Amino acid sequence: MDLKGRVVLISGAAQGIGRACAKILAEQGADIGLFDLREQVIDTAQVVQELGRKAAWAIGDVSDPAQVRDGVEGIRRNLGHIDCLVNNAGIVNNIAPLAKMKDSAWEREIAVNLTGAFNMIRAVIEPMAEKGWGRIINMASSAARGGLLYQVGYAATKSALLGLTRNVTLEYARKGITCNAILPGLIGTENVLAMPPAIIDQAVLATPSRRIGKPEEVAHLVAFLCSDGAAFINGTEIDIDGGAHLNTIVLGSQKESQGRRGS
Ligand SMILES: NC(=O)c1ccc[n+]([C@@H]2O[C@H](COP(=O)([O-])OP(=O)(O)OC[C@H]3O[C@@H](n4cnc5c(N)ncnc54)[C@H](O)[C@@H]3O)[C@@H](O)[C@H]2O)c1
Repeated sequence: MDLKGRVVLISGAAQGIGRACAKILAEQGADIGLFDLREQVIDTAQVVQELGRKAAWAIGDVSDPAQVRDGVEGIRRNLGHIDCLVNNAGIVNNIAPLAKMKDSAWEREIAVNLTGAFNMIRAVIEPMAEKGWGRIINMASSAARGGLLYQVGYAATKSALLGLTRNVTLEYARKGITCNAILPGLIGTENVLAMPPAIIDQAVLATPSRRIGKPEEVAHLVAFLCSDGAAFINGTEIDIDGGAHLNTIVLGSQKESQGRRGS
């Protein structure tokens, strides 16, 4: 993928999938804007600079429109313009049965996962439209389709991101902007790899490819969607989950099913 001359803004870039996107896109020639709540975003900027690309960062909360406006403006001043936005910042704020979900947890998940993406889009889209070229990628989740037990706020916001994606396409496609959603299955970020092994084993068993994904694999899809070659892919939802979205019975070896019979 040739992303030379492109500037890509990534939210939630201090670690995980966001950091992998910064690295892979920089390797393919893009300069990178980074927006995150945490100072570790500076380490990601360093990774980008070590690859010979420009990086600019802002520390802020995607749910706060003023912080987004100021942060994005600073990044734009630094890097000249913004061609692509990767709305990657996202949280799981509470894992609980619906009846016990705290109001504050529900509200925070909506504020970060949904309103955060809306704020970021509003901060970049008009200059993209004036230029007649832009790419917006919303990081949803396989939970957007299948739900996620005891994560009602997270799953609902990820489904809502699909609606946001479609509407951006309807409004801005004729101005040269594409907007697409990515639906990752379980991806082996630092946080995911620190989860109890039993959870990962369950995800592996439900995945035809028999493994979880790698952050770099999501980043390569992001890079393609940012490229000229993806110009006619618009308003769509792309699963990246080793086939787990097929949601069918995957016949495993005897060892894999040991202890699961009758449960
Ligand atoms: N890892 C997975 O298995 C997986 C699966 C499906 C979808 N996703 C989605 O991919 C995205 C990245 O996931 P990840 O696993 O790398 O997450 P992560 O928790 O490792 O990283 C998320 C980043 O977002 C930042 N962030 C959180 N709230 C923010 C806010 N209010 N403002 C600015 N930055 C904020 C964090 O500081 C962090 O750097 C998320 O949207 C997540 O929902 C992840």
